[in-house]
Order: sequence, then structure tokens, then C-alpha cells
Amino acid sequence: MSVLLAYIMGMALAICRVRGHDDGFLTEPPDYIRECKIADKNFVNCSTQSIQQLFDKLNDGIPGLNSIKSFDPFHLNRIRISQGNSNAINLKVELANVKIIGFGHTKVLESIVYKKDFSWKTTFTLPQMKLQGDYSLFGRILLIPLNGRGQVFLDAENMTITMHTKTRLYTKGNFTFYNVTNCRVDFKMDGLKSYFSNLFNGNKQLEDSTNKFFNDNWRMLADALYSVITQTVEDILLDVLRKIFHFIPANYFVSDIPTPEQLYGKTKSKPK
Ligand SMILES: *[C@@H]1O[C@H](CO)[C@@H](O)[C@H](O)[C@H]1NC(C)=O
Ligand SMILES: *[C@@H]1O[C@H](CO)[C@@H](O)[C@H](O)[C@H]1NC(C)=O
Ligand SMILES: *[C@@H]1O[C@H](CO)[C@@H](O)[C@H](O)[C@H]1NC(C)=O
Ligand SMILES: *[C@@H]1O[C@H](CO)[C@@H](O)[C@H](O)[C@H]1NC(C)=O
Repeated sequence: MSVLLAYIMGMALAICRVRGHDDGFLTEPPDYIRECKIADKNFVNCSTQSIQQLFDKLNDGIPGLNSIKSFDPFHLNRIRISQGNSNAINLKVELANVKIIGFGHTKVLESIVYKKDFSWKTTFTLPQMKLQGDYSLFGRILLIPLNGRGQVFLDAENMTITMHTKTRLYTKGNFTFYNVTNCRVDFKMDGLKSYFSNLFNGNKQLEDSTNKFFNDNWRMLADALYSVITQTVEDILLDVLRKIFHFIPANYFVSDIPTPEQLYGKTKSKPK
């Protein structure tokens, strides 16, 4: 009887270990990422592969991390942007019920981690990113006065995104974790197809000619929508990265990562 009880308790303990702590984090290194040493010469190469594996895993879902419901397609409720005050760009845009397809095919080109403050610079490409949602916009794009609401479709080809991420290290359990505090992106792309429905409250002819104009001048449209697109990508990445890095200890990515005390000094991280 007591042997059986001990066996059951052992099983329960093993399951706890596999699933992580009560407050939800891994306590065993996952097999889908590579541990890299920042002191090693080939750290960037190792880290690039590790982050690629992480992105690949995100596609089927990271076991135990249920707060990321879906990565591809990714859903955003609302994005609001006011931008510019120049002649070319003067725009208020709101997107709602946004669905973004394509993050599942992310190819990581380079993952740099800076020893000084453990911020990151990550470069990756998305062969295709499609966005679909409800839009309302007021202002001008390429000097065309717009005041409409309807559906928008964007289809960006070969987006190369550079992501600058700020972190603050913290301790949880026996591990060092990244608190992702800020994420800023810039990007370029090889092409942008777009379609806005109901641009001029049902004036179909004007709508068609404007949509054609946007597609013929996609580079200018991409510039005009630069803030809208970066904000969208940043919102997605910040949300996803925060969840991942509160869940997976930083030690499993960078095995020789310092503790917060070692990096910031005792007084700063643990005020008395
Ligand atoms: C990175 O590692 C891969 C696989 O081990 C290797 O093929 C590639 O040449 C390496 N790149 C650099 C820049 O070291
Ligand atoms: C925390 O890590 C240290 C060093 O790796 C180890 O000696 C210690 O047993 C660990 N403590 C717990 C509670 O896991
Ligand atoms: C992470 O940073 C935010 C501020 O950016 C702070 O509010 C939060 O408490 C931090 N979380 C942890 C676990 O340190
Ligand atoms: C996108 O990249 C692929 C692979 O590098 C290339 O074959 C294709 O021509 C690019 N698309 C555009 C529109 O440049």
C-alpha cells in the first residue's frame, strides 16, 4: 500500500516537474532549443539556430504555454495609429479584428545578444505576411484625401525585420529570466499588394482607381503605412516574447547568463 502511494506521489511529482512550477515556468531544459554560451566565439551562430527552433516550435504550440493561443494566424483586437504631419503623410488609422498570416514561416537570419545589458538584436525574414481586418482611416495617403472604413487586405512579400529588444533580468525559482520590456522593429520588403474596400463610401470607380494607384506605387504606400505596419508587428512580437520568456528560463538559451545581482549589482535589483 505504502509502496503504491509512494509510486503515485512519485508520478505526481514527475508530472509537476515536466509541466513546470505552480506559477508556470519550465524547470527542465526543453529539447526544442539549443543552449548557447555567450562566452563562446560561435554564440551568434548557436543563438540564431536556437531562436529558429523556437519559432518553429511556436507553430505547433509550446507545450505548457497555453497563453499563446495561435501564432499563425495571429489575431489582434485593435491597433490605433496617428502618424505624421507632413504633406505626404497625415493619417489616422484604426484596425480592428486583425488576422495576420505568415509568422509561422519566419526564417531567423541572426540573433545577437549583447553581454552589456542582455538586450537583443534579431533579424529575420517572413517570405509572406498577409494582414486582413477592418480599417477606418482619416487623412491622406500619397496626397489622396481619404475618409473611409471597410476591409483591408495587405500582402507583404519578403519582409526583412530587424527587432531591437530590451530586457530586464529577474530571478524566479532557481533561474534567471528575461523580462522583455520593449520591442522596436524596422523592416523592408520586396513588394506590397493591398486592397481597401469602401474607400470612398461606395464610390466604386474612385475606389478601384485608388486601389490600383496604391498597388502601382506600393513603395510609397509601404512608406506611408510604415508606422501602422511596425506597430502591428511590435504588438505581436512583444506579446509573444513576454509570454515565452516568462515561461522558459533564460538559462536554457544562454547557459552562462549572469544572475540579476551579478549584472546590475545587489542594491539595484533588491532594494532594502
Ligand atoms: C553556423 O553553423 C552552421 C551549422 O553548424 C554552419 O553550417 C555555418 O557555416 C555556421 N556559420 C558561421 C557564420 O559560423
Ligand atoms: C539552485 O541551483 C544551485 C546551483 O545550480 C543548486 O546547488 C541548488 O540545489 C538549486 N536549488 C534548488 C532549490 O533547486
Ligand atoms: C517586468 O517589467 C515590467 C515593466 O516593464 C514590470 O511592470 C513587471 O513587474 C516586470 N516583471 C517582472 C517579473 O519582473
Ligand atoms: C522574394 O525572395 C525570393 C527568394 O529570395 C525571391 O526568389 C523572390 O523573387 C523575392 N520576391 C520579390 C518580389 O522580390
